[in-house]
Amino acid sequence: MYWLGLDIGTGGSRALLVDERGRVCAGFTAPHEDMRMERPLWAEQRPENWWDAAQQAIRGVLAEAGISGDQVRGVGLSGQMHGLVMLDEAGQVIRPALIWCDQRSQAQVDWVNQTLGREAVLRYTANPVLTGFTLPKLLWVRDNEPHHFARLKKMLLPKDYVRYKLTGEYATEVSDASGTSLFDVVHRCWAYEMAERLGLDRSILPAVYESSDVTGTVTPQAAEATGLKAGTPVVGGGGDQASSAVGNGIVEPGIVSCTLGTSGVVFAHMDQPAYDPEGRVHTFCHAVRGAWHVMGVTQGAGLSLQWFRNQLAPGTGYDTLTAEAATAPPGAHGLFWLPYLMGERTPHLDASARGGWIGLTAKHTRADLIRALLEGVSYSQKDCLDLIEQLGVRVSSVRLSGGGARSAFWRQLLADVFGRRVVVLETQEGSAYGAALLALVGTGVYSSVPEVCRVAIREVESLDPRPAETEFYARGHAVYRALYPALKDIYRRIEAL
Ligand code: XUL
Repeated sequence: MYWLGLDIGTGGSRALLVDERGRVCAGFTAPHEDMRMERPLWAEQRPENWWDAAQQAIRGVLAEAGISGDQVRGVGLSGQMHGLVMLDEAGQVIRPALIWCDQRSQAQVDWVNQTLGREAVLRYTANPVLTGFTLPKLLWVRDNEPHHFARLKKMLLPKDYVRYKLTGEYATEVSDASGTSLFDVVHRCWAYEMAERLGLDRSILPAVYESSDVTGTVTPQAAEATGLKAGTPVVGGGGDQASSAVGNGIVEPGIVSCTLGTSGVVFAHMDQPAYDPEGRVHTFCHAVRGAWHVMGVTQGAGLSLQWFRNQLAPGTGYDTLTAEAATAPPGAHGLFWLPYLMGERTPHLDASARGGWIGLTAKHTRADLIRALLEGVSYSQKDCLDLIEQLGVRVSSVRLSGGGARSAFWRQLLADVFGRRVVVLETQEGSAYGAALLALVGTGVYSSVPEVCRVAIREVESLDPRPAETEFYARGHAVYRALYPALKDIYRRIEAL
């Protein structure tokens, strides 16, 4: 028998099949349309495209494994977080989704803070309200597109739209709900009072489950569309970061992960919810029952390299680019990259921040540009790690995953910049893998998430930081950290132009 993990990412939807020991049997990715960026810092995708890709990925993985849908015992979902999917009475998508990196809603964030007070927002949700989160996106639509808002019946997160298409249920789970700014993270339920004080009807919010609970079963129509069997249970799953943490075994205290996808995330497990009073890292429910997690987010991690490739080196493979970076010396001859291509969350919480290289001279080569870019993203992830340690989380090693971790050069760079041992796991499938493990728990094969992780997850490589490089990068990080404060006001002036 097999279990299916399905991750609705930004770049594509990935389906993964595992057996009862959590061994990967097959994987298939169907790409998404590019995000639409009508204006700088706006980002939208079409939920219908996610569903098309999801169907293609499920059919693709079944074909790849040479099995039929009857052999799949359970499905787990994972997905990009914070996106706003708006459905009308008939379950139709009202407008394209404003996705996680869309930064248009600063006015709505300010309004929520004025209306409720920052303290109350922290009390209700354990986090500040941020432009990246779902609530201000919804309020943006209410303020700017009242005709769309008037049709709203349900608001869903990206993977939960795919759940709706698979099962006909309007449902989510605690880890993804945590990133909406409408969820009481401490008590693991919707913050209905907060929603109502903002004039929102509680009926727009879907049912919320724990991540390994079954939320519904595949409908006959969805079975027809995907090749799965009608009646197959679909478990809650998790936001991509919580799912990826399950896939990386970050389900008990002491181990931290760094996931370099489009965004970059440093993630730690917590038995009790602790939060940064300034809200620079997020405190969310974990996909593990009765546990929480804290994470710091670099908005433009893999995105920085993707942007570089698309704009400045079209058609070049990522391996070629990272190999080129390795030919430049540490510090790239005094060049720094600020990865703020979509504003920044940790540690600046600034939607207006902008990216760029600082320190260019006529001597610099393309190799320096790429090396500086990888170093800048790594410094930004070190900012996240430092804040997490300041919350009292002990970090002995960092488990790496995501596309960025495929580069041996970047892995060593991260060990050097973090000054910590970094570890690579046998299965580097991240979010889709975690979703499949959650399906194994939800269908009763294992009694808990830590139990399945103990069976399925193995470390295969570890890299130690090199002392001379770590000392050098500590000095580089100090320069990097001084750049944002120096530019902060300039970003405002650029925006006002
Ligand atoms: C997490 C976050 C990103 C997105 C896209 O808070 O915004 O990780 O989920 O991957």
